[in-house]
Amino acid sequence: MRQENIKVNNVVRATETTLPRENYVSSEIFELEHRNIFSKQWTYAGHISQIPKIGDYFLHSYAGESLIIVRESADTIRAHYNVCRHRGSQLTKSDSGTVKSFVCPYHQWSFALNGALRRAPMMPDKDCIDYEKLSLHPAAVEVWAGLIFVNLDPAPAESLLELVGPPSECVQKLQPENMKEIVRDLLRVQANWKTLLENYLECYHCAGSHPELGIAFDIQSSYGQTADWGGSCFIGGEPLRKGFRTVSMTGELVSKPLGLFAEEKELPAEVTDGMGLLPVLTRVIFHLDHAIIHTMNPISEREVEWTTRWYVRSDAVEGVDYNPDTVAEVWRATNAEDKELCERNYRGVLSRRFISGPLNPIAEGAVRPALNLIEKLLTY
Ligand code: FES
Ligand SMILES: [Fe+2]
Repeated sequence: MRQENIKVNNVVRATETTLPRENYVSSEIFELEHRNIFSKQWTYAGHISQIPKIGDYFLHSYAGESLIIVRESADTIRAHYNVCRHRGSQLTKSDSGTVKSFVCPYHQWSFALNGALRRAPMMPDKDCIDYEKLSLHPAAVEVWAGLIFVNLDPAPAESLLELVGPPSECVQKLQPENMKEIVRDLLRVQANWKTLLENYLECYHCAGSHPELGIAFDIQSSYGQTADWGGSCFIGGEPLRKGFRTVSMTGELVSKPLGLFAEEKELPAEVTDGMGLLPVLTRVIFHLDHAIIHTMNPISEREVEWTTRWYVRSDAVEGVDYNPDTVAEVWRATNAEDKELCERNYRGVLSRRFISGPLNPIAEGAVRPALNLIEKLLTY
């Protein structure tokens, strides 16, 4: 049972802990999380630049599902479950492409971009099946500042816009819709997804384990900031070290300024903005010259995929305006360190002797509120 941190003789006694061991190792709890959390939460899927033309699509894997994200018209993007309505075959052979319709490779049923069943070849007669009832299963999809978010629930309790609100003035000025993805790193982490989440939410470990992050970020002020992340979304960026203009090893810009900032004679000392979704983390961080988006994809109770994508303005030229390895340098190193930390942490959690000790009330202050949210969602 959880206890609040208590004050004894004006001393804060750390009494909050993480969850009981079972929550990290049980496949039954993972299934419950799938039903109550993964299947109902908004998460990041990709950027509009991946599907500029009608019929462009890409596949998105999340929580064991494959979704087809497709541009139906200039202003409509759809998300369909990649499951044929005949006998369930996946519909596409490649991860991305351009189509007029989706033709199932198995018995050639074809579906329009909006998911409607158009043809089912060689059926005895035209009324043999009810076409109206055999559209592809939809997922919810919403675009926020050029970023495509999906929800496995086709009718979510809350729209993404209701949840997060419109992009801030600063984000609008950065024009995220005019960015392109230049690097994507996928890490398979052998740990429960909550182990990875806890790790992301605290920087208690940063000084000892993240030399690169410690160079670019103001770790002390990040404690105060993450302390507010109690709900299912949060707004804001990551505070940089004083004198740093962006996330890089030197503090110097690693690409051209984003959006309207490129037109300014005098650039601001620092730009950091963004948003995040919890508990399955999507973290969007904007800086003056690039953006970083972290996402997690729970695979099983013992495995989670951690993806980081880096974006620069769409007209930036590789080798002239940016070098992908330099843009990715700080977070790529940090991710590798975190993977190792989380896997070692999880091997300890697998021990039947594991029982969580007290959390640091300041440096790990954001962990318990996120776990409270998970516990609350599991009881619905
Ligand atoms: S499974 Fe798709 S047409 Fe048969
Ligand atoms: Fe870390």
